[in-house]
Amino acid sequence: MILILDFGSQYTQLIARRVRELNVYCEIHPWNKVPELGTHIKGVILSGSPFSTRDPQSPKPDLSAIKGKIPLLGVCFGAQYLAQNFGGEVLPSTIREYGRANLSFVDDSNELVTGMSMGSQVWMSHGDTIKKVPSGYKIIASTKDVEFAGYAIEGETTYGIQFHPEVYHSLEGAILLKNFIVGICKCSQSWTPDSFVDSTVAELKAKLGNDKVILGLSGGVDSSVAAMILHRAIGSNLHCIFVDNGLLRKNEFDSVLESYKGLGLNVKGVNASEDFYKALSGLTDPELKRKAIGKVFVDVFDAESKLVTDAKWLGQGTIYPDVIESVSVNGGPSQTIKSHHNVGGLPDYMKLQVVEPLRLLFKDEVRRVGRSLELPENILNRHPFPGPGLGIRILGEVTADKVRILQEVDAIFIDGLKEHNLYNEVWQAGAIFLPIQSVGVMGDERTYENAVALRAVSSTDGMTADWCHLPYEFLALISNKIINQVKGINRVTYDISSKPPATIEWE
Ligand code: XMP
Repeated sequence: MILILDFGSQYTQLIARRVRELNVYCEIHPWNKVPELGTHIKGVILSGSPFSTRDPQSPKPDLSAIKGKIPLLGVCFGAQYLAQNFGGEVLPSTIREYGRANLSFVDDSNELVTGMSMGSQVWMSHGDTIKKVPSGYKIIASTKDVEFAGYAIEGETTYGIQFHPEVYHSLEGAILLKNFIVGICKCSQSWTPDSFVDSTVAELKAKLGNDKVILGLSGGVDSSVAAMILHRAIGSNLHCIFVDNGLLRKNEFDSVLESYKGLGLNVKGVNASEDFYKALSGLTDPELKRKAIGKVFVDVFDAESKLVTDAKWLGQGTIYPDVIESVSVNGGPSQTIKSHHNVGGLPDYMKLQVVEPLRLLFKDEVRRVGRSLELPENILNRHPFPGPGLGIRILGEVTADKVRILQEVDAIFIDGLKEHNLYNEVWQAGAIFLPIQSVGVMGDERTYENAVALRAVSSTDGMTADWCHLPYEFLALISNKIINQVKGINRVTYDISSKPPATIEWE
């Protein structure tokens, strides 16, 4: 595998994705927590960093067990550290070194950059630049403004590049990464979804034996794929619980439950809608609503889990971005680990061990693994849907009546997107029930009813998002259908806010 040492760059995860795209397994570890080295680690990549190597507080990794012994590639900060720390010089750059640049020199005889073309576009993102390299460092790539865009250390398989091969804007970055990973590190490109399924199933069998595992299904991709892979390993010892919180999409509970059963999963559907509605009664504050929904979920899940005697494990659909520890570049002990919200935190007394078969996968890899496990496309391509469901899309107090109305509106919108081949163009879509009434006219009758907002966004990870420019004709059709068919709604609006400064959900 390839070890990526993270110095806190926003692009570190992208390096890992590019490595995985070459069907080579890799892991990201904080620079100050290097795992045990061994023959399984075929190469090391040093990431970029928000720090400058000139900053006294900047990371100072001990590379003595790596440099000159295992193939090593420093990217941006990594390259600057390898230069400065071994007798070179790094200074603030006098010209802008952000964004697009073109290679004005490529040493095609060098194994790292061979195959890249003169003029090739590369992406720079650094405020410092290497002014002098130590002796034995040979220039292998330059741009007009950056002489030491890439270097190789003679007698070692150690390289530094100041541009970012992992970003798509470095058009031939994939060539460089392949040269390093396949050519120099000699990794075999055998890490595929099928091989992941085979090895994970074998590991799960060994780890779980005849133990029983409980898993909360949400209808989403991650928990569904986690369930399928566990099911393949331990069959009916996997006990899935799918809770209807009364805040799901129209008919979602029944149709998803049917698909799960069709896949052979041992799944119990629990209709707890009334408990959720009761807990939400009178609540209008978004945070209190979220907390109430979370608490009822834990109570219901807890009660159901107890019915499975001798369960030892809790299965979760945690994925890699949830797991990756953000590096404490200050050397302090603080490490942020994002907790997963599939099963909103269980009481300690449950004393279950956690098993997370997808914890090393990115979202697109989870989908590929799901495909390899023959999960239906309607589950794999499903838009993200928040745990608290329609509860945070009904502004103000949630009631069963409002849920019914919003489910109808949402179904018209989502079905419309599918019918017009727009569903897969959109990252996430839904409808929001607005707590305002306005005057309308239907036939000769005055109406005074509620308004809804439609929301459709493009995004890659939900962290930032833009509103989708859906065709006017489509919006007109959907608006018409909603007002004509859903009693209680006489006005439709379309949300044209991006995130930031808005968020995707309204609450
Ligand atoms: P925001 O509204 O913060 O949402 O822009 C970003 C993404 O996260 C989803 N979301 C949630 N998912 N539990 C979840 O499982 C939650 O409490 C929750 N809140 C927001 C949201 O749907 C979007 O995809």
